[in-house]
Amino acid sequence: MADTLRAFVCGHPVAHSRSPLIHGHWLETHGIAGSYEKIDVPPAEFPAFAASLAARGFAGGNVTIPNKEAAFALVSRRDGAAQAIGAVNTLWFENGELVGGNTDAYGFSANLDERLPGWRSAGMATVLGAGGAARAVVHALAESGIGRIAIVNRTAARAEALAAGFTGAEAHGWDRLDDLLPSTDLLVNTTSLGMDGEAGAGLDMALLPDSALVTDIVYVPLETPLLAQASRRGLRTADGLGMLLHQAVPGFERWFGTRPQVTRELRDLVVADLGGGH
Ligand code: ATR
Repeated sequence: MADTLRAFVCGHPVAHSRSPLIHGHWLETHGIAGSYEKIDVPPAEFPAFAASLAARGFAGGNVTIPNKEAAFALVSRRDGAAQAIGAVNTLWFENGELVGGNTDAYGFSANLDERLPGWRSAGMATVLGAGGAARAVVHALAESGIGRIAIVNRTAARAEALAAGFTGAEAHGWDRLDDLLPSTDLLVNTTSLGMDGEAGAGLDMALLPDSALVTDIVYVPLETPLLAQASRRGLRTADGLGMLLHQAVPGFERWFGTRPQVTRELRDLVVADLGGGH
């Protein structure tokens, strides 16, 4: 099996990762003799793990929580997105050197290109949350040329720290939402608000324009309370699963040499694994 191309996802915990399902599907579809393994790597072991990759025959892999910042620090080189976001989620080798990229912003944009065409001409986007995921989203929005990006967070200081790094970005506390929603063309949730079934506390969907687009990067449940509210209000929405699927594309192409497609079949496979949509 010397010719088998090997890739991985490493995190801690990593058991819940759907990446092996996604890459496994593509390996099978394209008839590639490759593997994609799930490896639990606690933070303390990450540097040694990264140093061992070449000797173990890995072409590269994905890095997930809590190792993305450590990966950022120890790669030889980073792509522009990783540099802007401050985290690495994809590793590969170039001329024997370990290179780090970040495909989350690409995945976010590719999902909206597929599901909400026209989103790039939004004049103003409002982002709920200011954590690691919000950073990738704000980078994607800034790259797409959206002129005004309002970052709204429970902890205003975190929103300010995030906004400081991006042209056109501004920071607000949750209490400013009612003022911001009427001029919001694209609303993005990056907080865990949807995860425990809370109904987007304090968010009055009626204040959004009729033409507003709404997306959530949370995909469990697939239809978050925010998306459900937006649909009831008659707004166009995109769920977060597409971001997960699309962010996997560039890594697969790097390691296995073929650019895969995000198909309905792949989406159905992951939805079934998530438990029929929940
Ligand atoms: P991630 O990397 O997934 O973005 P994170 O860095 O922990 O995770 O960020 C979580 C985000 O969800 C933060 O913006 C957080 O707000 P704070 O910065 O104020 O902590 C937000 N968040 C989590 N639970 C929340 C809640 N119940 N209400 C409002 N915001 C919440």
